[in-house]
Amino acid sequence: MRISVIGCGYLGAVHAACMAKLGHEVVGVDVDAEKVALLASGRAPFYEPGLPELLAETMATGRLTFGTDVAAVAGARVHFVCVGTPQKRGENAADLRYVDAAVDALLPHLAPGDVVVGKSTVPVGTAEAVAARVAAVQPEAVVVWNPEFLREGFAVQDTLHPDRIVYGLPPGAAGETAGALLDEVYATPLADGTPQVVTDYATAQLVKVAANSFLATKISFINAMAELCEATGADVTQLADAIGHDARIGRRFLNAGLGFGGGCLPKDIRAFMARAGELGVDQALSFLREVDSINMRRRVRMVDLAREVCDGSIVGRKVAVLGAAFKPDSDDVRDSPALSVAAQMGLQGAHVVVTDPEAVANAAQRWPDLRYAATAEEAAAGADVVLLATEWQEYRDLDPVAFGRVVAGRRIVDGRNVLDPARWREAGWVYRALGRP
Ligand code: UDX
Repeated sequence: MRISVIGCGYLGAVHAACMAKLGHEVVGVDVDAEKVALLASGRAPFYEPGLPELLAETMATGRLTFGTDVAAVAGARVHFVCVGTPQKRGENAADLRYVDAAVDALLPHLAPGDVVVGKSTVPVGTAEAVAARVAAVQPEAVVVWNPEFLREGFAVQDTLHPDRIVYGLPPGAAGETAGALLDEVYATPLADGTPQVVTDYATAQLVKVAANSFLATKISFINAMAELCEATGADVTQLADAIGHDARIGRRFLNAGLGFGGGCLPKDIRAFMARAGELGVDQALSFLREVDSINMRRRVRMVDLAREVCDGSIVGRKVAVLGAAFKPDSDDVRDSPALSVAAQMGLQGAHVVVTDPEAVANAAQRWPDLRYAATAEEAAAGADVVLLATEWQEYRDLDPVAFGRVVAGRRIVDGRNVLDPARWREAGWVYRALGRP
């Protein structure tokens, strides 16, 4: 099937390549000429494992093209809207300007029977508004809401093998026909037995923010337990293992530490609260404010721990921060807990050097005042304290003995609870962690 993808960021670029992999003929459109030029030459504009290989494979078939001219979408039967919905400046609500612009750009090119598929994470009510705008220009086109649940770092796998497929359809025959067309697009994952939920617009839009709110709550729950552990001498990693054995709770997303960041969870829970307020049900989500606060407190606690191990003051101390991305296997630094800690330490008078295997370029663009190093050893040379802020495998694998020769003072704060405290202490390190004795 001929398909268009509007917006070629973390979501759209991966979606376009995966749809081509599934056998469709795909045109990806983005307003960012630089991004398009990279994609058109078969290179990924961001770090995502497996994406470069997938781009090479699918572009060689001739089924995948990229461009900046939205007129290229003409002839496609299904148009996926994959643009970002960041947080509005100075407000909790989502900024819908990119969704609006994508729909505006699409409208003149829609033909009868076309299906516009919203994949962006939006405040509930957006699908209805988009459908009204589409109906005013092309009454025989249909809007479907089809939220995306991919995780950065696993985006290709999550798109090719999703754990569920959700359609929000308008009522009536038009909705059914659009759903059937989308079933053709997703024929391969559906044939693999992927669970499918077909529902209305409101539910489909809520599914995404409800899922992200649940995940954020799970992380903040265990981080709240970490605060209790710190007050009592208990170990939050063992606590998580023990409660995680209860299948109703489950161990995943119970990793205590510096908390969540990135382009999704923080802004999604805030936008959800803002939307609930508009709907007059703000009380229903007031717990998310606490989820957000617990999360932000972890960053403060990390700075406090660093100060504690430095005998009460970080002024003039050399600090190495391992990690800049909001999570490993990504170069995304949006709302990164690691950089937030690094910046705080810098503001409080420490000499901070940040390193990351993939995210240094992005970090330097956003936080030009921080200093950066290419490797952990370089960042830690002469350091008084090392902070592990993003759990890249190469930091988990650090040898405490060899690494100890690089630093000036063997002090480490494990912000992700991934190091073996006994090994590090044996090698002469002062080891501290969030939620562990
Ligand atoms: C998330 C959702 O998982 C995904 O389904 C949705 O489509 C987009 O938002 P992503 O932002 O890629 O995906 O990252 P995720 O793997 O969920 O991690 C989010 C943050 O939580 C990271 O900063 C991570 O370090 C942190 N985290 C995760 C924890 O602190 N503890 C955990 O146990 C798990």
